[in-house]
Amino acid sequence: MTRLEHALSIADLRELARRRLPASVFEFIDGGAEDERTLADNRHALTRHRIVPRVLVDVAKPTLDTPVFDHTWAAPFVVSPMGSCVLGWPEADIAIARAAMAHGIAYTLSTMSTTSIERMANAVQGRLWFQLYVLKDARINDQLVARAQAAGYEALVVTVDLPVGGKRERDLRNGISIPLRFQGKHLWEGITHPAWAWQMLRAGLPEFENVRGLMGEEGAGLTIAARVGQSLNASYQWSDLARLRDQWKGKLLVKGVQHPADAARMADMGIDGVWVSNHGGRQLDGAIAAADSVPAIRAAIQGRATLIMDSGVRRGVDALTAKALGADAVGIGRAALLGACVGGEQGAHRAIEILIDELRRAMQLSGVPDFSTAQVELA
Ligand code: FNR
Repeated sequence: MTRLEHALSIADLRELARRRLPASVFEFIDGGAEDERTLADNRHALTRHRIVPRVLVDVAKPTLDTPVFDHTWAAPFVVSPMGSCVLGWPEADIAIARAAMAHGIAYTLSTMSTTSIERMANAVQGRLWFQLYVLKDARINDQLVARAQAAGYEALVVTVDLPVGGKRERDLRNGISIPLRFQGKHLWEGITHPAWAWQMLRAGLPEFENVRGLMGEEGAGLTIAARVGQSLNASYQWSDLARLRDQWKGKLLVKGVQHPADAARMADMGIDGVWVSNHGGRQLDGAIAAADSVPAIRAAIQGRATLIMDSGVRRGVDALTAKALGADAVGIGRAALLGACVGGEQGAHRAIEILIDELRRAMQLSGVPDFSTAQVELA
């Protein structure tokens, strides 16, 4: 058995990633903002629920098929957008996207990926979504939207929970910045993690390909969260979102929604998908856990928009719990990336396989033959 087959859970993959990566990279991926209360609460808000299983239901052939917009995914998972994944594995974006496509689920490319919109579209055929960070320069935003449209991306996801970067103290202490400013400790981390260091050296210095040359030198050397945050338009508001709705012809989702009144207003203005998320606890520490936001948001949008939830999904059963709370599908961030950090495409493949296998089993044990129509009772 290979190392990946030995990994039975996302927690196992996380442990393998922790051992393989330098601490500063692992903590960039794994960590959250400030005291990491919201990071911990995300997990707790999913795990504190208990399913009340039904019995004597034919669950011999469970189906995880999930209709989302005009398509049917093979499982209720979408890969959440993640920037700077390359720190964990060369070409991690493409590795994760290929794994997602192999499992028949969608993949969201981040504005801050190190793979351009076009390069990804050429490398991967399938359900590709593009996530937009709204930059200060409106012309760049327009260009990114036009490029995603031209490259055939199915949906646009605009992230609105990052008007400024969260205060991620681990990154501040570790000096994780873009462009990388090497410090003595990074050299030491490279020497003590030779497999990782050799891979990185061979792959060469990564770039934010979507915004190459557009972010300026201002703020170079800040942590990734700070650098991204200071490039973003903190004045972005409802009227701008209405303009984006007019501009983007495909499905439009808003990511980072936590208040039901915001969700209701989005549904009113024709937003197709409300993506409930607190950025995996990486932005506002003290924000409500994502799963706790779902029931009220479900009630507020009254079926007018698709509801996706991310932040804290680590087990297949979490998707069933999220469904019971009112989500149509769940996003996976770190789960997929930690897999990729252990074994590139195969590692990401293993992570998604684990989640799908766990979900299928959880459905069967709960008396749920069909995910999309599941009526699950929580205790
Ligand atoms: C993120 N996230 C994120 N979100 C986004 O809209 N654009 C981005 O570029 C990034 N970048 C990013 C990098 C890394 C390393 C992580 C871990 C996360 C947030 C991401 O989309 C998602 O909301 C969370 O990861 C969900 O929480 P879990 O699944 O990681 O618990």
